[in-house]
Amino acid sequence: MCGIVAYMGPKAVESVLLVGLTRLEYRGYDSAGIAVLNRGEIQTRKEQGKIKDLENLLQAHPVEGNIGIGHTRWATHGEPNRKNAHPHIDNSRKIAVVHNGIIENHYELRRELIKEGYVFHSETDTEVIAHLLADKLKQHPQIEDAFYQTILKIQGRYSIVFLYDGAPHRVFFARDGSPLIYGHASGESFLASDIPAIVPLASHYYTIHNGEWGWITESGEMQLFNSKNTAISPKLERIDIEVNQVEKNGYDHFMLKEIYEQPDVMRRIIQTRLNGSDGKVLFPEKAADNQFLGSLSRIFITSAGTSWHAGLVGKMYLEHLAKITTEVDLASEFRYRNPIAGGDTKVIAVSQSGETADTLASIYQAKSKFIRVLSFVNNANSAIARESDAYVDLMAGVEIGVASTKAYTAELLNLLLYALFLSGIKWVIGKTERQKICDEIRLLPSLMEETLRKSEVIKQWAQNFKETKDFIFLGRALDYPTALEGALKLKEISYIHASGYAGGEFKHGPIALVTSDVPVVCIAVQSEIYEKMLSNIEEVKARGGKIIALYTEGDKTVPKLADYSLPMPKASPLLYPILNSIPLQLLAYHVAVARNCEPDQPRNLAKSVTVE
Ligand code: AGP
Repeated sequence: MCGIVAYMGPKAVESVLLVGLTRLEYRGYDSAGIAVLNRGEIQTRKEQGKIKDLENLLQAHPVEGNIGIGHTRWATHGEPNRKNAHPHIDNSRKIAVVHNGIIENHYELRRELIKEGYVFHSETDTEVIAHLLADKLKQHPQIEDAFYQTILKIQGRYSIVFLYDGAPHRVFFARDGSPLIYGHASGESFLASDIPAIVPLASHYYTIHNGEWGWITESGEMQLFNSKNTAISPKLERIDIEVNQVEKNGYDHFMLKEIYEQPDVMRRIIQTRLNGSDGKVLFPEKAADNQFLGSLSRIFITSAGTSWHAGLVGKMYLEHLAKITTEVDLASEFRYRNPIAGGDTKVIAVSQSGETADTLASIYQAKSKFIRVLSFVNNANSAIARESDAYVDLMAGVEIGVASTKAYTAELLNLLLYALFLSGIKWVIGKTERQKICDEIRLLPSLMEETLRKSEVIKQWAQNFKETKDFIFLGRALDYPTALEGALKLKEISYIHASGYAGGEFKHGPIALVTSDVPVVCIAVQSEIYEKMLSNIEEVKARGGKIIALYTEGDKTVPKLADYSLPMPKASPLLYPILNSIPLQLLAYHVAVARNCEPDQPRNLAKSVTVE
């Protein structure tokens, strides 16, 4: 939540910051601003709204210079308006600060600073940093000393970046909790919340760790210190993200591009994990954790939102294939329920961003009970990957759309393969059966492509739901989480109220909602619950409800009963949670576009939720 970018180098800072902020807009988009240091003077430009609004302001009131910082905000303290937009400056206009995270002791600091005569101009927690730094400079005239003293005084989760006109050849930073990376190119330095912001300008990066602070210079260097104020040497890594991964490449929205990338994501995962014909599944990145797997008899999956839905499917995969008792917890609840666990237990944390504060807190909770943690993340440099004993790389590639699509199906496939991997270790499934499942999984990319070719049908349906106020999604067994996910996707990007239910539960209350104005999406593909889903469809129909159904091609019954029906290719039931997600993602996307909503940046949301 909130995106930070900073630049020092020969290029015009305004354009570097605008590109960087646009790439970080998925982290927050209620207001944005930049500060530029030029000829000893700090100039700021801030605007409520999106980066486009800031760009318009900069066209009318440009700034010049080669050193600057920028910020795109997701409001925590204070309304999203120009006054609360970052950067925040001290009373003498010598310091400009951007910040991501929460300063937990800001009330106390604000009170102390007001007593000292500092005047606040915003309701943010960030502004205390600017005044505190100015105050520390009174006793510690070297800015690095004043900054270190400031860091010692503030509490909470943060990444902070600031300019000081008394040090015009440096941009300062500190991290404790919220992500921050340093980017390097010859004669240029960058700081950013995430790598896409500095692609393709920077060639190398370093992930700044919690407790680290320092400064960058215009000659492309970084001076780094740890929390004990000892200088450390960073080890840079090459950036291997191509610019086409962070651009729309002709698609109207990132979400649509990412929906269409799914077959290739599946191919990549399959090539890495199923590269032989012997039914062996490979998880090389977690080899360090393999020694405990033989005695593993209980798993807790913790995650949030879409990743929680992946966890619900993961439970069924783990119980069905590996015969390991699995519980799924919302990460935000796990820490409060004091779970009972022994040495035979593992926690699996699932998170696309690897930064979700709730999921991170659940990992700390697990570790306090000495439970080993394996995370499934799409960002190997993330806090969740670092805090876990081992991690599985989701391999979905950069996901920019706030509504998770390809990362979700990557979570599902990796969980399926992990269950299969454990089934081998625990001798639950024989080699022949495992090979059969692997062969079915290898068909997944082409089955997905076949499904994606039906997008136009769903786009036409969407026109009929522009004015719809409520939707219901029904699924059973493996498709129950798919129903939950379909409802979440629709509500987060189209703002239509939608609820997902297990088909069997529907008659116990929610069926009262059925009217001809409430479409009911029924996932009724061929599986052991097919007959039961037919009963659901009949019950809705009997009450005048409108049915949108997914069914298996060749089935003659469902299309006769449904008002809208989409045939899905024949596949192993294990693959349906992955395949059925695609038409539901497309439904959400096309309905959102038909309602003139912005699918990539839904209101009130941010992609990585780094506050609890
Ligand atoms: C997905 O569409 C949502 N925006 C959201 O529910 C998300 O899945 C959740 O915040 C968890 O994020 P994570 O996977 O990065 O941990």
